Amino acid sequence: MAIDIAVVPVAGLGTRLLPATKSQPKEMLPVGRKPVVQYVVEELARVGLKRLLFVTGPGKASIENHFDLNGELIQTLRETGKEELLAELEFERAAMQYFYTRQRQLLGLGHAVLCARPFVGQQPFVVALGDSIIGMHAESDVVRRMTRCFEEHDAAAVIAFEEVSPKEVSQYGIARPRTSGDVFEIADLIEKPSPDEAPSNLAIAARYVLSPAVFDALATTTPGKGGEIQLTDAIRAMLRQGGRAYGVRLTGGERRYDIGNFDAYFQAFVEFALADPRHGAALRRHLEDLLHVPHA
Ligand code: UTP
Repeated sequence: MAIDIAVVPVAGLGTRLLPATKSQPKEMLPVGRKPVVQYVVEELARVGLKRLLFVTGPGKASIENHFDLNGELIQTLRETGKEELLAELEFERAAMQYFYTRQRQLLGLGHAVLCARPFVGQQPFVVALGDSIIGMHAESDVVRRMTRCFEEHDAAAVIAFEEVSPKEVSQYGIARPRTSGDVFEIADLIEKPSPDEAPSNLAIAARYVLSPAVFDALATTTPGKGGEIQLTDAIRAMLRQGGRAYGVRLTGGERRYDIGNFDAYFQAFVEFALADPRHGAALRRHLEDLLHVPHA
């Protein structure tokens, strides 16, 4: 059966983005015109996933509201002659069914994924982090490449990877590849290594395809860094038990925009705003003036 479930964890507190995230989810912060999580959902809908489970928590209701049909707003736009704005609400009609569950204790990403167990049951599924966009306009089909790899290799896990600079390896889970190429077998994963210890510069990039066996692995994973149950630790446990895991590299245009800290968030916002068909050119001129760069 084709993989059609995506689990999108959005329960985290986003403390690195305080005060912006004090009373609004970081996944709802806009990057250009849209909230981050809308790009994530559009990417998943485009590659044919049909059921999406948000793992949410307190203060995340605006995510649920965002993906509801808002009849009143549609009516108001019609009555006030703003029909052209209806196009901005097209995403509400994506062929996606939404489900929600709560992570009642914030015990980390691995624990958030474990909360999806009763919904997912005994089938493989996709995990997409709700605070990371893949590719400008989220036009990536990496998840499709990953589900194909998962099925071809009868894998326990397939993970997206992005090449990062040596000084960045200490921020990510890093692959120790067993083979080379755009799709490679993973020998091991090293969580946040120093540049000297890093076995590669391939960093986990916010998308996973997982076998349901990961739930047993998560249920027996002891909390690691910061008292959190790490998804990476559960995948390593599956590797130790003889499961096979593969990496799929992001290609050229598929940069990962993780908005988890202000540097990355500001950069993502500026890049997306500059690429905006209507407002990008004016912003470019403004930035050139600010930075005293001659207009091109
Ligand atoms: P992060 O670890 O980057 O998010 O998780 P965080 O904990 O919200 O951020 P900081 O460190 O406090 O700034 C990546 C994704 O996983 C979700 C987050 O909502 C985010 O989308 N997550 C994280 C959960 O759903 N539950 C958790 O317990 C942790």
